[in-house]
Amino acid sequence: MEISLKNQVAIITGASSGIGTGIAKSLAKAGAIVVVNHSSEHSKDEAEAVLHEIKQNGGSGMVFQCDVSDENQVLAMFSETISKFGTVDILVNNAGLQKDAKFTEMTVKDWDTVMDINLKGQFLCAREAIKEFLRRGIDTSKSVACGKIIHISSVHEVIPWAGHVNYAASKGGVKLLMQSLAQEYGAQKIRVNSICPGAIQTPINEEAWETKEAMEDLLKLIPYDRIGQPEDVGNLAVFLASDFSDYITGASIFVDGGMTVLESFSRGG
Ligand code: BGC
Repeated sequence: MEISLKNQVAIITGASSGIGTGIAKSLAKAGAIVVVNHSSEHSKDEAEAVLHEIKQNGGSGMVFQCDVSDENQVLAMFSETISKFGTVDILVNNAGLQKDAKFTEMTVKDWDTVMDINLKGQFLCAREAIKEFLRRGIDTSKSVACGKIIHISSVHEVIPWAGHVNYAASKGGVKLLMQSLAQEYGAQKIRVNSICPGAIQTPINEEAWETKEAMEDLLKLIPYDRIGQPEDVGNLAVFLASDFSDYITGASIFVDGGMTVLESFSRGG
C-alpha cells in the first residue's frame, strides 16, 4: 500500500513559513489539495510562494489569509474552502508563536497573544473542522475515517520551559484539547492527534541555531545530534493524515531527535 492523500482537502494554518510550510509541501506531495493559511498582509507573498512551489511540483490548492484567533475569519476560511473544494478532510492546527519573557516581566499582552494564537486558534479551527466532518460523514473513496485533526504541539507540552511560561502553558493546553477531542469524537471516526516537535530549524527559534556556539549548545539537548527540519514534521503529518495510522488517536508523537528523553542525563546524573 502506498501512502496517498489524493483528493483530500487539507487546511494547514500558519503555512507561510517554518513547520507549516514543510507540512503543506509534504501533504501536497502525497496528493492532498492544500489550503495554505497565513495570518496577515505581511505573510501574503511568502504564502503565495509556497503555493507556487507546490503547484510547480504538480500539487494544487489555494492561499487564504486568516487570523486563527478571530472567529469570523476562521468561519470565512472554512466556508471558502468548502465552497471551492467541497469539504475539508484534514486540519493541521499549526499556527503558533512565542512571546518570551522572564515571568515577572511578562505582560498581559505577551500572555494573551500566545494563548489566542496557540490555543484559542486551535480550538476555533478544530471546532469548524469537526462540524464539517460530521456534516459530510465518511467518504470511503478518500479515507476510512470521517476526518483527521493534527495539532502541532511541542516537546514543551511535557518539558517545562523557564522563560517561556506562556508558551509552555499553551502547549499543555493543546495536549488536553487534543486528548479530549479524541475522546469526544472517536465514535464518529474522527481521529485527533498531536505532533510534538523539538528543535526544528525555522525562524521561531533562530537564536538557538544561528551561531556555531548556539548550535553546539542546542545539540547537547538532542541525542540524535542534529537539528530537525520541517520535512521531518511533514513526513509524520502525512502518516497521521493517512489511513496507515487509522488506529492512532489521542496520541502525542514526538519528533525531537530524542530531546524529550533528556539527553542531559545520558552522561550520568
Ligand atoms: C519551540 C522552539 C524550541 C523547541 C525546543 C519548540 O516548541 O517553538 O523555539 O527550539 O520547542 O525547545
